[in-house]
Amino acid sequence: MTYTVTSVALHDIMQLRVAVLRKGTPATDCNYPEDAYPDVVHFGIIHEGTVLATSSWFMKECPELPGVPAMQLKGMAVADHLQGEGLGALLIDAGSALATERGATIAWARARDSAMGFYERLGFVATGDGFIDGPTAMPHHIAVRML
Ligand SMILES: CC(C)(COP(=O)(O)OP(=O)(O)OC[C@H]1O[C@@H](n2cnc3c(N)ncnc32)[C@H](O)[C@@H]1OP(=O)(O)O)[C@@H](O)C(=O)NCCC(=O)NCCS
Repeated sequence: MTYTVTSVALHDIMQLRVAVLRKGTPATDCNYPEDAYPDVVHFGIIHEGTVLATSSWFMKECPELPGVPAMQLKGMAVADHLQGEGLGALLIDAGSALATERGATIAWARARDSAMGFYERLGFVATGDGFIDGPTAMPHHIAVRML
């Protein structure tokens, strides 16, 4: 199967976001304040009308690297049955290309510790102290990738 990353509408990715990112957490919705940013791009991988993977990207300073032009990614989710098939890596490639195009020199995420191996495999480095994320109550670190 060849997968293609495209820009999609927020309402098209919400079901997948909630299914993957809110499973087993206290939260039931998955809206982010950054969804309203004018520069936000929601990436999706769609097959036969179904969104299989998504992540959202926007310019935002990283608290660990103030003053550095930075693009943050959020809402990184791959459908359960397709995890480990390379879709997440395709989204990181697309987002990193966008970030470079927009003048960012780093990409960063508030990464779940359970997903840190994924980010590290793609060139991110855990930075700063760990913290517990509010909506998920899961341990996180900021992960940064130099572009
Ligand atoms: C984390 C997630 C986005 C990764 O996407 P994916 O499509 O499953 O990952 P890929 O198949 O592209 O993996 C790329 C590489 O990272 C590795 N990897 C993926 N998930 C990993 C994990 N949780 N821990 C360690 N390594 C991982 C893969 O083995 C692969 O390595 P390889 O190139 O040596 O084969 C996806 O598994 C997911 O949606 N998980 C649940 C939600 C989640 O945790 N989202 C992130 C919130 S911060």
